Amino acid sequence: MGEPDASIARAADFLRGARRIAVFTGAGISAESGVPTFRGGDEGLWSRYDPMQLATPEAYARDPAMVSEWYDWRRQLILKARPNPGHEALAALEDWCEGTGRSFDLITQNIDRLHQRGGSRRVIELHGCLLEWRGWRSGTVVPVADDPFESYPPTAADGEPLRPGIVWFGEMLPIDELVAAEEASATCDAMLVVGTSGAVYPAAGCIDLAWGAGASVIEVNPEETEASHKATILVRAPAARALPAIVAAVRG
Ligand code: OAD
Repeated sequence: MGEPDASIARAADFLRGARRIAVFTGAGISAESGVPTFRGGDEGLWSRYDPMQLATPEAYARDPAMVSEWYDWRRQLILKARPNPGHEALAALEDWCEGTGRSFDLITQNIDRLHQRGGSRRVIELHGCLLEWRGWRSGTVVPVADDPFESYPPTAADGEPLRPGIVWFGEMLPIDELVAAEEASATCDAMLVVGTSGAVYPAAGCIDLAWGAGASVIEVNPEETEASHKATILVRAPAARALPAIVAAVRG
């Protein structure tokens, strides 16, 4: 649907015309920070690893050492990653919304905290955070050092095995975050959908809520996705290039 430059200008027009802006992000926004996505191409994690062997409570119960070591590998990648201009542009958009009296909500499926490190102040984390670990039975969050764990699974002082503080397949999303995300999605006038395949529910239901309520949906993604047909504007470019251009145009 048009050249990136034209779609960037149209996206900026829609955002300027909105009073309530929601942003919904997925793994693609962190791709240019060196964090692998899950789907798409041979590089996607789920083309190299079986999510049912790694990303479910049953997998952890079966082999806590293997599962926690895999997540610690990803945790180390995330700790070394830096926010990219896409993350920073969304922080600037939050500032612009605050300065112009617009509401702004950033909803993410990402577990890497790169939005916060890029300057975003309020982030709704639908899938938890890989930097937090909690008791396998108690659910209590236990502070952990950044260094790789010395043994797997890592344990709390009382010996309880620790699991990553993320949402696995088959688990509930954190209820307060889900309610806040659904409210923001159902009431926005414009939703910027960035770097997500839109394939994983209930999170992807945020796009459906915005679309169903008549909001303009702007998709920033180099590839077609399951949400593309809901988009008013398709920006077919990588997030670290497209978002700074969109936000610069919004701010004029
Ligand atoms: P996916 O890996 O499913 O999709 C990543 C999307 O990012 C794809 O549509 C790519 O085309 C796009 N993409 C790649 N590089 C990009 C770039 N530079 N700029 C913009 N877009 C780019 O990731 P998610 O949609 O986040 O859940 O996946 C949803 C959930 O599935 C994850 O939260 C995770 C996963 O299994 C759990 O672990 C529960």
